[in-house]
Amino acid sequence: MTDALLVETRTADTAAWWRQAAVYQIYPRSFADANGDGLGDIPGILSRVDYLEKLGIDAVWLSPFYPSALADGGYDVADYRDVDPRLGTLEDFDAMVAALHARGIRVVVDIVPNHTSDLHEWFQEALAAGRGSAARERFIFREGKGENGELPPTDWVSVFGGSAWERVEDGQWYFHNFAVEQPDLNWDNPEVREDFLTTLRFWSDRGVDGFRIDVAHMLTKDLSEPLPSRAELDAIPQDGNHPLIDRDDVHEIYAEWRRVFDEYDPPRTAVAEAWVSTPERRAKYASAEGLGQAFNFDLLVADFDAEEFRTIIADNLAQSDTTGSSTTWVLSNHDVTRHATRYGLPALNGRHVKQGTEWVAAGGPDEGIDREQGLRRAHAATLLLLGLPGSTYLYQGEELGLQEVAEITPEERQDPTFFRGGEFDGLGRDGCRVPLPWTASGPSFGFGAVEAHLPQPAWFAAFAADVEAADPSSTLSLYREALRLRRVLQADESLQWIETGRADVLRFARPNGWQVVTNFGTEPFDLGKDAVDVVLGAVDGGAVPGESTVWIAPAGLIG
Ligand code: NOJ
Repeated sequence: MTDALLVETRTADTAAWWRQAAVYQIYPRSFADANGDGLGDIPGILSRVDYLEKLGIDAVWLSPFYPSALADGGYDVADYRDVDPRLGTLEDFDAMVAALHARGIRVVVDIVPNHTSDLHEWFQEALAAGRGSAARERFIFREGKGENGELPPTDWVSVFGGSAWERVEDGQWYFHNFAVEQPDLNWDNPEVREDFLTTLRFWSDRGVDGFRIDVAHMLTKDLSEPLPSRAELDAIPQDGNHPLIDRDDVHEIYAEWRRVFDEYDPPRTAVAEAWVSTPERRAKYASAEGLGQAFNFDLLVADFDAEEFRTIIADNLAQSDTTGSSTTWVLSNHDVTRHATRYGLPALNGRHVKQGTEWVAAGGPDEGIDREQGLRRAHAATLLLLGLPGSTYLYQGEELGLQEVAEITPEERQDPTFFRGGEFDGLGRDGCRVPLPWTASGPSFGFGAVEAHLPQPAWFAAFAADVEAADPSSTLSLYREALRLRRVLQADESLQWIETGRADVLRFARPNGWQVVTNFGTEPFDLGKDAVDVVLGAVDGGAVPGESTVWIAPAGLIG
């Protein structure tokens, strides 16, 4: 092979529904509000099943809908085996699953095993039972330092900023990787392990098809004394033996979970949210003996750049070959600036988005954001993703081309990261969590009967689902058509690069002849005679315009 590189080939018999699924993430409290209390709910999702079917997705992933005080948008779970009463009942949940299944849409739910809510009955019990109790052993309690234990056990900082330790009334401290209201569980405790098996079976028995595992890389810890200082901790390599992050022993938990998943027919699936240091470390989460799949966030933190995309794609497909899993492509989720905005942000040191403290002002002031360019590039990148082997995760609202909302006052903000700083420096994550506009007019743009729990700006009207559904040139129409065609064209999990002679144009073919061409540059890219076979995206005078993607399918491939 010279110019063309065969990245990977897999046989069809390993295929399972999740391998190449288009999974739509629902952030339930911001999707649709059926009871009109300002918070989205389960009956709201049920009322939009037609919309989801028309969109053409294969599965939905629901962010947490469990009882929660919403200290972290529901990722502070007070009861893992119930529905937040503001969002409905277990019967509502069952009805929703049945309705989605009836349309051929599978259901994935979020499991948050690293921490509970401080309102979880276990934590309340731990507070009441006092030091030395079995109830405290389910969490991570320690004595403080200083003459009277008035100083935290270490100087560690939580992911959301501030100390990672909080003092309770009797003077002990508990550890929390995230918000104060999210005490970390002690995964050395067999009772904790057992309880999550019960939770996995509880939802699997209710017909859930799979699970998304929150911060899957942080559950196990080595907190043997003496505890290292923050500086010492930061210097320890994350190679499997770090005291807090991505420890090898976490995989014992997932091997046990896999045995539970395999009790079901078809086996339940799982995808790890694991921000780990190398692709090799990530592969462990994707193994067939473990969770089976792991999020690949590489494109989410990449620039809109042909070379970067190509390297990431090739690396991840090669990695899938070694794990036997399929990769996951993601451009947006509830934790990051919507990609239609991100791609329009002015470059920061030559890049549009960075991780850690250099995370670009998420959804920041309008100044300098080129929204047209952002949307154009978002379309181009999404169509490229949907043509790739593997599964693609779409985040609610991106099918409307929604932009990040910057106009939220500090009083209206909810995200703890906005208030505490930490790794998500900037405006926090509320801007991508604003409830969806369903109609151009009416209260809360058709989200519900009253004002939405996060303010929707007036410009949401132009992005409303009813407006876009009626417009063949809208983002919604593009997503519908792309998802429809994707099902028709879907091929074995491999691709072959086709050299374009241009550093800023990527072109690849799937084994059945389906081709994707993305022009990352601004100069049109001439397609020659292939222009007649373009089935998606616009060509102009036989050329792919700048910052756009087309799909090519030889005659006969589409019935
Ligand atoms: C990752 C989730 O995606 C995020 O929203 C949450 O704040 C943290 N995990 C903590 O649960």
